[in-house]
Amino acid sequence: MAVCSSPGKVILFGEHAVVFGEPALAVAIDLRTEVTVAPASEWSVDRGSIDDAHHKYVRMAVEASGTKGPLRIAIKSGIPESSGMGSSAAVTVASLGAMHAIRGGVEPEMVAREAFDVEHSVQGRASPIDTSTSTHGHAVLVLKERGSDFLWRMQRGERQWYLHHRDIPPMTFVVGHTGVEAATGPLVERVKANCEKSAKARKMIAEVGQITLDGIDAIQKKDWATSGQLMDRNHKLLNALGVGHDKLDELIAAAKPFSYGAKLTGAGGGGSMIALTDKPDEVAHAIEAAGGRAFKVLTGQRGMEVSIR
Ligand code: PMV
Repeated sequence: MAVCSSPGKVILFGEHAVVFGEPALAVAIDLRTEVTVAPASEWSVDRGSIDDAHHKYVRMAVEASGTKGPLRIAIKSGIPESSGMGSSAAVTVASLGAMHAIRGGVEPEMVAREAFDVEHSVQGRASPIDTSTSTHGHAVLVLKERGSDFLWRMQRGERQWYLHHRDIPPMTFVVGHTGVEAATGPLVERVKANCEKSAKARKMIAEVGQITLDGIDAIQKKDWATSGQLMDRNHKLLNALGVGHDKLDELIAAAKPFSYGAKLTGAGGGGSMIALTDKPDEVAHAIEAAGGRAFKVLTGQRGMEVSIR
């Protein structure tokens, strides 16, 4: 049997803008999903049917990988669902990694491509940032052109993304989950519709891209004050683009007295916020007191890891 574990992620800068091809930065976190696959007499996922709607990403990963099967698939997820921490990307990457491993070879770039295919067809419109971060781990910077530490390039129609490895110093974030579930696809569509009718919205998307570039610079200099200010500005722009939520703002206000900066992370509309802090216990406590669920996460974790047992 083959086992593959993949990390969740948080987007530090650039969500939504990255769907338009703008720069964005995501980091792998210390919450992981593990998928085990073994040959069997019929297909199953967690002893149930693979056709269960809940296993959409696994079923599509089976199709994308061309696995003939049948396989018995078991999922152990340590990443809360619909939390902005990349649970769907991690289960897709871990499924693909395990299925390739059982056939004999795992190429990270191939897994990242197939996982992006899956995410793109489920979401309708998507960027490769979640799936590439879950595959590669560490920190992944998306740029409009090829730079140093280049990993791979992805394309969809006119849009293209150059994905890069980045070394960043260890950072502690507290993720605050609002408990409000919001599907990514409709939020991505909302931003697209706003940009089609408003030049101001298009300018905001470009500003978010610039914030990412300034943000990676500040992080690499360990300039936490500037990093935090850029997070705050990024959040304002996401609110103006229509993907905010009152509960996110409440959790952010609670975290702010103990944080360098805070913003929503992922698709928004609910989901989660992140705060950059060196007082994670105080921030976690403030988030919980405001009605959120807090997770202290460490950045810069390993990507997909495969073993044959
Ligand atoms: O819903 P999440 O946490 O996977 O984040 C989506 C990030 C977006 O930029 C909104 C969409 C994308 O595909 O990049």
